[in-house]
Amino acid sequence: MRNKPILAIAAMVALAVSMAFGAEEKAPGPAPSSQPAAQRGPGRQGPGARPRPGGPALGAAEESFFLSEPMAKDDAEKKILDVLTALEPQGRRMMNVPREDGRLLRVLTEALGAKQVVEIGTSDGYSGLWFCLALRTTGGKLMTHEIDPQRAALARENFQRAGVGDIATVVEGDAHEKVKDLKGPIDILFLDADKEGYLDYLNKLLPLVRPGGLIIAHNINPRMADPRYVEAITKNPDLESILVNSQATGVGVTLKKR
Ligand SMILES: C[S@@+](CC[C@H](N)C(=O)[O-])C[C@H]1O[C@@H](n2cnc3c(N)ncnc32)[C@H](O)[C@@H]1O
Repeated sequence: MRNKPILAIAAMVALAVSMAFGAEEKAPGPAPSSQPAAQRGPGRQGPGARPRPGGPALGAAEESFFLSEPMAKDDAEKKILDVLTALEPQGRRMMNVPREDGRLLRVLTEALGAKQVVEIGTSDGYSGLWFCLALRTTGGKLMTHEIDPQRAALARENFQRAGVGDIATVVEGDAHEKVKDLKGPIDILFLDADKEGYLDYLNKLLPLVRPGGLIIAHNINPRMADPRYVEAITKNPDLESILVNSQATGVGVTLKKR
């Protein structure tokens, strides 16, 4: 009997905790965004707070709990990071991946020791530069495809400015045609162009992706992804697909099994 108040308090605490965390787990995903993280400011609910679907806004202290910024290990890395930072104010107009997605691309590329990365959708070269950060250490190359001549020229300029002109090649033209000239093995295929074209790119290039290689697709979210592509990467026993950054842009990471 003496334990009754304690049990009641414990039950209330458990209920409060489950409401705080359980609601968040069960909440439906937010409206996905393809905008750079730094530019998703308008959604904020006051200083340092970010709206969370189905849950309370994150306060500044919680948000800064795990703040990490890329730190240049050497001058060459600094040169690339400086160009990336300079490009970020135009990120929305250039439809660049958010910085955190770019960092993910770099980490995966470097961890895989990638020698050949193929990108579909160059824009001004922002995501390509994240690949180059890794490729300069793996000794690999980037082949990136862009249909818009002005963006292709801008990307070439940015690669030169960052000192990676010898690592990145911009292929100008419709990638649906141009990829027919590619030769394998591809370590990483990154899709970030016409969303309705992802399935065609996958069908054409999957045979060239080496076993153990990755197909990474940007904007895999209900608003933007082609359901046929999602089905192709999730219903094929030769592939293992996971969704990263699902609360924002949605990055589909698919492993071609060995
Ligand atoms: C989302 S942007 C790419 C952003 C880039 N990956 C980044 O994060 O910096 C998509 C780009 O794909 C290009 N694009 C669209 N359709 C294409 C096609 N069929 N072939 C080649 N490029 C295409 C567009 O011109 C645009 O620059």
